[in-house]
Amino acid sequence: MSPSYSSSTRPGGDERRTVSFCDLPALHQPLMAEFHHRFDELAAAAAFVGGEWLDRFEREWARYCGVDHAIGVANGTDAIELVLRGIGIGPGDEVIVPANTFIATPAAVVAIGATPRFVDVDPGTLLVTPTNVLSAIGPATAAVIVVHLYGQMVDVESVMSVTEPRGIVVIEDAAQAHGATFRGARAGSLGRAGTFSFYPSKNLGALGDGGAVVTDDAALAERIRVLGNHGRGRIVGIHVEVGRNSRLDGIQAAFLSVKLPNLDRENRRRRAAAERYRRRLSDLPISFPEVQPGAEPVHHLMVVQVNGRDRFQRWLADRHIETSVHYPVPCHRQPAFERFGSGYLPIVERAADRLVSLPLFPTMTDDDIDLVCEVARAFWTRSGASR
Ligand SMILES: Cc1ncc(COP(=O)(O)O)c(C=O)c1O
Repeated sequence: MSPSYSSSTRPGGDERRTVSFCDLPALHQPLMAEFHHRFDELAAAAAFVGGEWLDRFEREWARYCGVDHAIGVANGTDAIELVLRGIGIGPGDEVIVPANTFIATPAAVVAIGATPRFVDVDPGTLLVTPTNVLSAIGPATAAVIVVHLYGQMVDVESVMSVTEPRGIVVIEDAAQAHGATFRGARAGSLGRAGTFSFYPSKNLGALGDGGAVVTDDAALAERIRVLGNHGRGRIVGIHVEVGRNSRLDGIQAAFLSVKLPNLDRENRRRRAAAERYRRRLSDLPISFPEVQPGAEPVHHLMVVQVNGRDRFQRWLADRHIETSVHYPVPCHRQPAFERFGSGYLPIVERAADRLVSLPLFPTMTDDDIDLVCEVARAFWTRSGASR
């Protein structure tokens, strides 16, 4: 039951209506002429790596996030890895990571030779809190990666009130939170650095892979540029350290510049869709994530919790409604990470069996949402599912 990112189809009228998990063709259709135009311009200028379109998008993204610097990189995982390396974290250091995140967050920590220290999350928001962080701080803790999961920001300033006195760095993994705010501050703008993925289905997605780091720290920005460009310094032909190749393609930057002006409108539509789901399903045994006072989420995913999740998912799938699970096995329980021995993390482990992500995308109509809600309701009224 893996989700697709292609069009919702309605073969044979309403009776066999399909609601896909996400609909990228519908999102991109009005932009196709502009994409073609940018491609023609860029191909004529051969600005494939670096160049004017990349510089322009980096400026736009920094301004949008409310920071001084944005550095395009190859993907959101590299963005985290390059920030950690750029700060100087490495073997012997521990990095606190919520167990409820995509595997890329701890994978980046392991990639630089540091040790991920997994922590539990808040039962209401499923996000990491200062208390979770405090419980895991030890002598080797060098950094905390807060993950703005599903589109809602962690209260970064509260986490920093715990970490700053101890000299621990906070990094924001904002791969699921383009444009989200907390007390008016944008995702990525509060920690030492913020990292983004532009994977196609993200709130701001490229037409392929892409990522970025944002920061106010000029020295860190410069180091990340060097590290992601084979360690090249300012003097041509001189490599000042061992870097790697992690760059955002010019063409992806150009496509992102086409899409960025629509981001706020699309996020508003996601918010309205999430609100409609909440209203229509409020009397059913479905738990919605709590929204913290001060947070304005961008609903990258519509994650809810239900008992009998697998049967619920099958019920929806049999009626042509695609869903997904973010994430069925928490990171600390993944075979790849078990060696870090995190012990029992009750909130995330209990939630993992109940989580299900309903379809939510900016071009989704109210009719689509109502259909999902109707079919969901029938699960309790007609399938014999107990409350
Ligand atoms: C929370 C989180 N962090 C990091 C990443 C990694 O991004 P990418 O797939 O671009 O490497 C993702 C992508 O799905 C993510 O959701």
